[in-house]
Amino acid sequence: MSIREDWLNTITCGDCFEMIRQLPDASVDLVVTDPPYGIDYQSNRRTAREKLPKFANDVSLDWVGDWVDEMYRVLKDDTHFYCFTRFDTYPVFYAEISRRFTVKNCIIWVKNNHGSGDLNGSYAPQYEMIIFAHKGKRHLNGKRDPDVMECDNVPSAQRFHATQKPVELLRVLIEKSSDPGSIVLDPFAGTGSTGLACKAASHHDGDGHERNYVLFELNPEFVRKARAGGLGRQEELLDVKRDKRKLPAPKLRTTARPRRYMARKDQTLWLALD
Ligand SMILES: C[S@@+](CC[C@H](N)C(=O)[O-])C[C@H]1O[C@@H](n2cnc3c(N)ncnc32)[C@H](O)[C@@H]1O
Repeated sequence: MSIREDWLNTITCGDCFEMIRQLPDASVDLVVTDPPYGIDYQSNRRTAREKLPKFANDVSLDWVGDWVDEMYRVLKDDTHFYCFTRFDTYPVFYAEISRRFTVKNCIIWVKNNHGSGDLNGSYAPQYEMIIFAHKGKRHLNGKRDPDVMECDNVPSAQRFHATQKPVELLRVLIEKSSDPGSIVLDPFAGTGSTGLACKAASHHDGDGHERNYVLFELNPEFVRKARAGGLGRQEELLDVKRDKRKLPAPKLRTTARPRRYMARKDQTLWLALD
């Protein structure tokens, strides 16, 4: 049995918890997803048009265990799984994902904006976390990259979704963990950034093939935006055209400047000898 033809290379509106049950066992080559964080998130940012809406399943995380089981079932053997999370929900996602998968890294995405929140009482948030796990064992394509990745966030004026992810960052993850013709699943697709990254992805050797994608999103408004202007807007913003012949390894662009504190040698030595 294979994946429904009409779900391939498009974004489908509906409840992913129901739709993933209709995906055959071992039918997907990679999962890259940014699930609801269970924090009842509403962005304070406004675009020129409207306040960005809240999204579903963002109040509790009761669903994570069953969902991880389904992700494990639909992935083929020897594949990768990337799941965005944040510091306060990481323990839940880590516990459930490591129950089925082998967690290899927590990738830190350093972004250029600092978010909002408690402006006086908390440090400015400048990173998000991505749990990287294996089902079985698969090598990463290309050279060995560090687990800290700097990439500009989508500028808020260009955002159609409060937690929209940059296509360039997703493209790197997809290129590291899949091959031309692979099927990439994002069950919480939002405005479809993962689909755009699949379209932009080239093989690490530079043969320029895209990946296939299956995207589910509950909110019809996000689906409409993904299908209409949303994807196109981000595509223009992030320069995705590259020469297929002389293709360098994908580079993330960033203006992120994490503050750097230097360790003092004298103090470090003194502590070590104590
Ligand atoms: C963190 S956002 C993903 C944003 C996305 N990465 C992007 O770049 O636009 C999570 C998304 O999951 C969607 N969602 C929540 N519950 C869902 C469900 N049961 N089925 C499908 N989508 C769901 C929400 O509407 C929201 O758009």
